[in-house]
Amino acid sequence: MTTGESDRLTLAALVALERAGGEGSIAATAWAPGRCTLVGEHVDYAGGQVLCVAVDLGIAAAARRSDTGRFLVASGETVVTRASADPNGDFADRVLAPVVALRERGVRVPAVELGIAATLPAGAGLASSAALMVATATAILRLLGLTMTARDLAAVALSAERDVLGIPCGPLDQRAVVDSPDGGALLLDCATGREEPVAWPWPDAALAACDTGTQHDVGGAEYRRRREETEQGLAMVGVSTCQELTEARIDSFDLEPGIRRRLLHVIGENRRAVEAADAMRHADLVALGRFMSASHRSLRDLHEVSTPALDATVSAAEGVRGCFGARMVGAGFGGTVVALVTRESSEACMRAMAAACGGTTFLLRPSPGVAGLSPDVVRG
Ligand code: GLA
Repeated sequence: MTTGESDRLTLAALVALERAGGEGSIAATAWAPGRCTLVGEHVDYAGGQVLCVAVDLGIAAAARRSDTGRFLVASGETVVTRASADPNGDFADRVLAPVVALRERGVRVPAVELGIAATLPAGAGLASSAALMVATATAILRLLGLTMTARDLAAVALSAERDVLGIPCGPLDQRAVVDSPDGGALLLDCATGREEPVAWPWPDAALAACDTGTQHDVGGAEYRRRREETEQGLAMVGVSTCQELTEARIDSFDLEPGIRRRLLHVIGENRRAVEAADAMRHADLVALGRFMSASHRSLRDLHEVSTPALDATVSAAEGVRGCFGARMVGAGFGGTVVALVTRESSEACMRAMAAACGGTTFLLRPSPGVAGLSPDVVRG
């Protein structure tokens, strides 16, 4: 996102806040990007490696102290006021979850009023929840004049989603939103926490995206089931992460076919993420595209998290000259498809994807994570 665009979004968050809460004390603001996985989907909770970028669509939050002692959350026309930040089943739960998570870490957060604005589509597989958690937490820390390490900020955002809201997500989204490097991708090892920046070497390649308009499912039963099956499978063959797995080991156990497919997905996807990072280091666009398409096939056939709309959109993108590969992004069961294309074929690719599913298209540009954007709040 250009400074102009993130400024406009921040202004929209401030306007939402003032419209709902009237004039008040000075607000602190923050902006957090979404994330697009390049290769390495559904492996974070299996201790795998993920190659991902933060993107230039995101969420802005404006936070100010409440004069009334009540919390207020405003986004567009939706306004909620309440006495407590604890979840109670309304729209404000997701915005206030970071307040609860920060308090659980010992940060004394007073009652606050929050305005939210987004360019990132919600529920589209681009980590809008993580971006919301990180933007809100960062604005609150800024309001209180506090700093936090990048690791702690990502941990607060993860705890807000997982422990406060009960969404069974892995560590990928929060780390990508906080730590992605400027002008490149992040190779994240979810077993050790190690991160490596990988430069984006192609000025004339682009990520063309299509939100199919069907909601993805990270909080839902199917995501939870895939996660449980994968964890069960790893335990059955006696390893704790997919990085320790081999095909021979999988074959030496008499596994139920569904569990076997989950393990074959995580072992292959982890390997592909590492190879995809290598392809980027060697500026091998063709190889990265091939890994992206292979990732989609594995998510479709082995992890079984794709849908006919996602598959049709991927095929449509792959049929465009100048497209190197395409795949679904995020938890699946709906959401977004991303295609790696030459800049000059991006329009044609977006048209083909939209025609396949009737969805909304946009370009995604690799962007820095919040650690790079908020050095006054995030240290280390
Ligand atoms: C969602 C989850 C992540 C990860 C992805 C799939 O975005 O929040 O933890 O599991 O799905 O890779």
